[in-house]
Amino acid sequence: MLIFLDTANIDHIRQAARLGIISGITTNPTLMSKEATTDYQSAIKEICSIVPGPVSAEVVAEGTEEIIEQAQHISAWAPNVVIKVPATISGLEATSALAKDNIKVNFTLCFSVNQALLGALAGAAYVSIFVGRLDDAGHNGMEVVKDVVQVFRQYPLPTQVIAASIRHPEHCVAAAKAGAHIATVPFAVLMQMIRHPLTDVGVSRFLADWQSIAHVRDQSKSAPRS
Ligand code: G3P
Repeated sequence: MLIFLDTANIDHIRQAARLGIISGITTNPTLMSKEATTDYQSAIKEICSIVPGPVSAEVVAEGTEEIIEQAQHISAWAPNVVIKVPATISGLEATSALAKDNIKVNFTLCFSVNQALLGALAGAAYVSIFVGRLDDAGHNGMEVVKDVVQVFRQYPLPTQVIAASIRHPEHCVAAAKAGAHIATVPFAVLMQMIRHPLTDVGVSRFLADWQSIAHVRDQSKSAPRS
């Protein structure tokens, strides 16, 4: 399973990119609104220049024509930009048109297998299943991911499944076990994925034990050779 970072924060994107394990970025209007910049185009272009993989930028429109117009405009910003289109009737029609025009779509705000299936049939490159929001509403979000993966494998459909709205590291484990192609994770969750208290204890103990024999190493270095 690949890991995308779910943020528009440039510092976090730079830090995560240095780790060498991030394959792409997903943004949305809420994530953009948390950042200082109001220049959407520059922000997306900068993200696209930091991360060579797919960078999802969302349209903010409801009608089919408006979605298509915005998507065409945004897709010219960088070669690796992917257009996030909501899983609505207008969004579905727009996705079909954009896919025919070779514009990559991330069919987003999917909460059901049917939405994901229709997005895939329309030619979306990705479908994003919002796991955390389904959990919040009393459903099992990861079951939807599992079912979508199964359906896409059965036919097969080339659309990649993104487990989105990830809230904690266990969601990542479950997404990988469910066969999601990608989990898009907030920066804080990425940090939680690598950290483990027993690793920290282990590192401290190794350093302390190594330090405890420093005098022996020093003596052996200064001892005359016979
Ligand atoms: O990628 C979609 C994600 O950003 C939504 O997450 O936490 O707002 O449900 P959340």
